[in-house]
Amino acid sequence: MTAEPVALRGRVVVVGAGIAGLMTALALRPRPVVVLSRGALGAEGSTLWAQGGLAAALGPGDSPALHAADTIAAGDGLCDGAVVERFAEAAPAAIETLARLGVRFDRTAAGRFALGLEAAHSRRRIAHCGGDGAGREVMRALLAAARAAPSIEILEGYEARRLLVEDNVAIGLLAAGPAGPARLPADAVVIATGGIGGLYEDSTNPPGSFGQGLALAARAGAVLADMEFVQFHPTALDGARRPAPLVSEAVRGEGAILVDDAGEPVMAGIAGAELAPRDVVARAIAARRAAGRRVFLDARAAIGARFEARFPVIAEACRAAGVDPAREPIPVRPAQHYHMGGIAVDAEGRSSIAGLWACGEAACTGLHGANRLASNSLTEAAVFAAIVARSIEGAPVRRPPPPLLAALAPPAPDPAPARRLLSRAAGVVRDGDTLREAAAALAALAASGGPASDPAAVALTIAVSALRRADSVGAHSRLDFPQPPADGRRIRLTLAEALAQAAALAQAAPEIHARRA
Ligand code: SIN
Repeated sequence: MTAEPVALRGRVVVVGAGIAGLMTALALRPRPVVVLSRGALGAEGSTLWAQGGLAAALGPGDSPALHAADTIAAGDGLCDGAVVERFAEAAPAAIETLARLGVRFDRTAAGRFALGLEAAHSRRRIAHCGGDGAGREVMRALLAAARAAPSIEILEGYEARRLLVEDNVAIGLLAAGPAGPARLPADAVVIATGGIGGLYEDSTNPPGSFGQGLALAARAGAVLADMEFVQFHPTALDGARRPAPLVSEAVRGEGAILVDDAGEPVMAGIAGAELAPRDVVARAIAARRAAGRRVFLDARAAIGARFEARFPVIAEACRAAGVDPAREPIPVRPAQHYHMGGIAVDAEGRSSIAGLWACGEAACTGLHGANRLASNSLTEAAVFAAIVARSIEGAPVRRPPPPLLAALAPPAPDPAPARRLLSRAAGVVRDGDTLREAAAALAALAASGGPASDPAAVALTIAVSALRRADSVGAHSRLDFPQPPADGRRIRLTLAEALAQAAALAQAAPEIHARRA
């Protein structure tokens, strides 16, 4: 175990260097903050890949109340209304903060935000950058701002492997760094590690995002929430490339339509048609594919020759796959895209462990309910980063943490074994038997202590939550329980509870095999 790499005592340690982590560090200025970046700064992470943009009531005829109503409708009855209201009110100012930090949003000739439309939004309210390059531009600006801030120290090549907790208080982290394991004492820890796409075989996320922050929190005993709600983007580019390139919902917002290989419209007769909530469109496409058809997004009439200028990133991905979207329909399929669940946090971003905050995709604020409204995620990260920073500033000053004892960091995580099990059990549609089998296998992996164990622990909490939710709502669709929930109950659980439930299920596993045979 190496010595602490810098004089970290008393500092805030932020795990993750995407929009949520960097905005938290910037909002905490001039308080000293250490940001851990697993890879080279700005080289990986979901923020970088974001296409659509940031949703906020910025345009004429729009209001936070309308944005809140759309968010709640997409969330299918399971959003936390107070959180939604607060978010929608704060969203326009968060976009302005990003602009002040140097993000170059696309503007109209009059200098106003050029606003796009995406599914389930009743107004044009997506602020975008470079057409479909919001993530790249946000990261460019935030990295420049963070590098210029004397209070922010960025440790590149540091992967947090364990949260150190004493009497339910977070006191630091064990990390693997370029010079070996390192102990990082902290007054406050913020988890901002992004999503879980790397736990799925077919995802639009960078493969390195496989819920590491959730594993840190879960292993330390934190409560997780809404873990069963995994969003599948309806229109990933259907080709050989993995992760699957995204074909932004904004393309449907500009009028492109979904057709199958027989030329039949896919969304005909479905409320909202192409702009229905994402879970509805994903299920419609998955059903068509299950019936043996391929599905295409036809942008020829609506966008045609303007495609390249409006969607340069998507045009490039299509070109690489041999598709010209101006002249031919784009083959698409659903792929895992976002996780509504995560570390349960309160209105200030505090987890169930004192001294541990979370924001961005790793957190579950209750904003998204059962299905996230398009382009609410980057905005959520920006809004809640500021809330978390204020909460940390207002937190009572703690006694200096005790010296950290030498402890072994667990091995580098390998998500591959969990990926196979979770992809099969917790996809666009689920059933109890497959979930039970996956839970039993994931529990064994999670308890193994080997490289597969942390990713399996996260996958296990998803599988067990999906089993506990014996109804179908938003992104969670159970073939064996197709009815909507009777109430707005949300599922919260710890890793210990998930392991206990899986142990009980393991007893029943022979019975499942017998029934299947
Ligand atoms: C998209 O551009 O379709 C994705 C945006 C999002 O996931 O919010």
